[in-house]
Amino acid sequence: MNTHANTTEGRFITVEGIEGVGKSTNLAFIRGFLEQHGLEVLVTREPGGTPLGEEIRELLLAHRHDGMCADAELLLMFAARAEHLAAVVRPALARGVWVLCDRFTDATYAYQGGGRGVPAPRIAMLEDWVQGALRPHLTLLLDLPVEVGRARAAKRSGADRFEREEEAFFQRVRQAYLQRAARELERFRVIDASRPLDEVQEGLARVLEDWLASERTAS
Ligand SMILES: Nc1ncnc2c1ncn2[C@@H]1O[C@H](COP(=O)(O)OP(=O)(O)OP(=O)(O)O)[C@@H](O)[C@H]1O
Ligand SMILES: [Mg+2]
Repeated sequence: MNTHANTTEGRFITVEGIEGVGKSTNLAFIRGFLEQHGLEVLVTREPGGTPLGEEIRELLLAHRHDGMCADAELLLMFAARAEHLAAVVRPALARGVWVLCDRFTDATYAYQGGGRGVPAPRIAMLEDWVQGALRPHLTLLLDLPVEVGRARAAKRSGADRFEREEEAFFQRVRQAYLQRAARELERFRVIDASRPLDEVQEGLARVLEDWLASERTAS
């Protein structure tokens, strides 16, 4: 649990959801919102966020590795994460910078867990090892029906190794995300991302306003 006892440390906010929900689209909006509240924000992503992590991302998404075994995929995700936390996330939080990350470990539970069927305890072991006690303070889960997200994502250029998965895969991923959100109501906020962008952003602003207010009361 995060007690927020150390108020000089930055907060760690993650944005999650299946492909095409609008994570990347809304990062700039969320950053702008936080900056308007006087916060210094670093925007980053997983897998990636470091030179090593971006190379691992490329290995994970490329079709030349179609059929990669689920454990290799899982371990590559956490290898990229270890580097990202050591080189970027922890130093920023320690400087008081707020870190806004496009996907994090909830995506591992959703994709490698829900999607590929890796048992959650195996993921939890790696989470504890690589992250220690570090967990996001707030997770914004953008949610919409799988077919809506896929239709949006399809408008972009070529599908990566994940985007080629069948619909049932993404149904499992979505459900895994929603189950995690239901179990951790304190950390998660679920936003209906099927609406027009301006409405999604109104929803995000409302959630962030409330959350910032509760943070101020807590600290
Ligand atoms: N609320 C919305 N209504 C309609 N289109 C949207 C909305 N939000 C985002 N889009 C469009 O949907 C597409 C996918 O959005 P985006 O790339 O932000 O999704 P993502 O969650 O980052 O996907 P991925 O997981 O594949 O990175 C983009 O073309 C974006 O402009
Ligand atoms: Mg994206």
